[in-house]
Amino acid sequence: MSDLLDWIAEAPAGAKLPSTRALVTRYNASPVTVQKAIRTLTSRGLIESRPGVGTFVRAVRMARPLDYGWQTAALRAPQSRLPSSTTTMRSTPHGGVALHAGYPDRELLPERLIRSALARAARSDAALTRSPVPGLPELQSWFAGELAGATPVGITPPTASDVIVLPGSQSGLSSTFRALVTTGQPLLMESPTYWGAILAAAQAGVHVFPVPTGPTGPDPDEVARAFEESGARAFYAQPNYANPTGAQWSADTTRRILDIVQAHGAFLIEDDWANDFGITSTSVPVATQDDAGHVVYIRSLTKSVSPAIRIAAVVARGPARERILADRGAAAMYVSGVLQAAALDIVTQPGWQTHLRGLRQQLRARRDLLIDSVTEHAPLADLTAVPPGGLNLWLRLPDTADLDQLVRECERENVLIAPGTEWFPAEPSGPFIRLNYSGANPGAFPDAARVIGRALERAT
Ligand SMILES: Cc1ncc(COP(=O)(O)O)c(C=O)c1O
Repeated sequence: MSDLLDWIAEAPAGAKLPSTRALVTRYNASPVTVQKAIRTLTSRGLIESRPGVGTFVRAVRMARPLDYGWQTAALRAPQSRLPSSTTTMRSTPHGGVALHAGYPDRELLPERLIRSALARAARSDAALTRSPVPGLPELQSWFAGELAGATPVGITPPTASDVIVLPGSQSGLSSTFRALVTTGQPLLMESPTYWGAILAAAQAGVHVFPVPTGPTGPDPDEVARAFEESGARAFYAQPNYANPTGAQWSADTTRRILDIVQAHGAFLIEDDWANDFGITSTSVPVATQDDAGHVVYIRSLTKSVSPAIRIAAVVARGPARERILADRGAAAMYVSGVLQAAALDIVTQPGWQTHLRGLRQQLRARRDLLIDSVTEHAPLADLTAVPPGGLNLWLRLPDTADLDQLVRECERENVLIAPGTEWFPAEPSGPFIRLNYSGANPGAFPDAARVIGRALERAT
């Protein structure tokens, strides 16, 4: 009956099988053979009988093994091997405690503002028209105005025309590396740093030079040395609430690094992903200190407004802005006007500032609860610094800790944690874990810390 199997493999889901009599004739087989074949195919889940109606090809079929071997030759070896997913993007099993993830729980989002903004955007012209390539002018103005409001007297603030709206800052990192650094050229990066920036650099084919960083930012002398040794003309950094460490550059570090960047005729690609997540301080963008086009500023609203209204912007001046805009045009043409209109609506409501004030308190309570829990129940994990903002704790483990074992054992008890390895552009300087305190169910932090503490004792 292999002919019948071929027929089923090619038939669309839901196709009706010919009657037993028709099959007997078509395949020149006995009725017993045909009925036996139908029973076998039913038990394999390929067809189903509906009494009184007939027998049908099932929607979900067990596929024949397909051979994509030819693609191996056609694709050749990749230029860089990018992972298809990373730990922080894994979804959480039901009942699990998600300390590995990067996106805030919905209780930290301005849900009422989001829902009414989306409803208004759906009724507006934005729902039917194409946005300009650099973004909706009003949203460009909002991003520029935010920076301008923090720019000191004596420095010319950016204007709306310096802004390019992005569908999230991740693709902005790729565009900026491609446009300003270009394939094969050197790029300085703090170490540890955001895994997504490491991936974007690999995708753009740029050559990364790691610069060690600490609780108040990198040592400016190290930055100067890295510029000199590498010949780099760009430095990707997170001066405020860095992911993963939560570090914020001191005023002195900021001034000295900006001087070094300017002296080397270079760009500082400033990733201000956590501008809205200050806890005991406020984000002070380095971009407010520069009007000569050295700082290319990337500001995300994804995590503070909503991961579903994924809006960010890059603010750049001079020819650099034109290069990035050209890359954006080639990569994506424009960003959905509906999402831009909704984001603008949310951040211009009076309720937005009220929401941000409440968020600060909530993040502080969550951060402190997780710190207390870890300090009490997982004393082998050493908090590198209390983060003044952001969403994460960065913990150093004993040298002998087996990170893979720790992560596995925690997961077995439904506690998901992120191994620090992914945040290092080169070899990790030691075993670290990152714990995010913005996920669901903060009440479970003490129990989760107990699980981590016990697993860490076994893994050390
Ligand atoms: C430091 C940093 N930059 C950029 C991004 C990407 O942000 P977006 O979601 O806007 O693409 C993230 C997301 O986790 C991040 O942590």
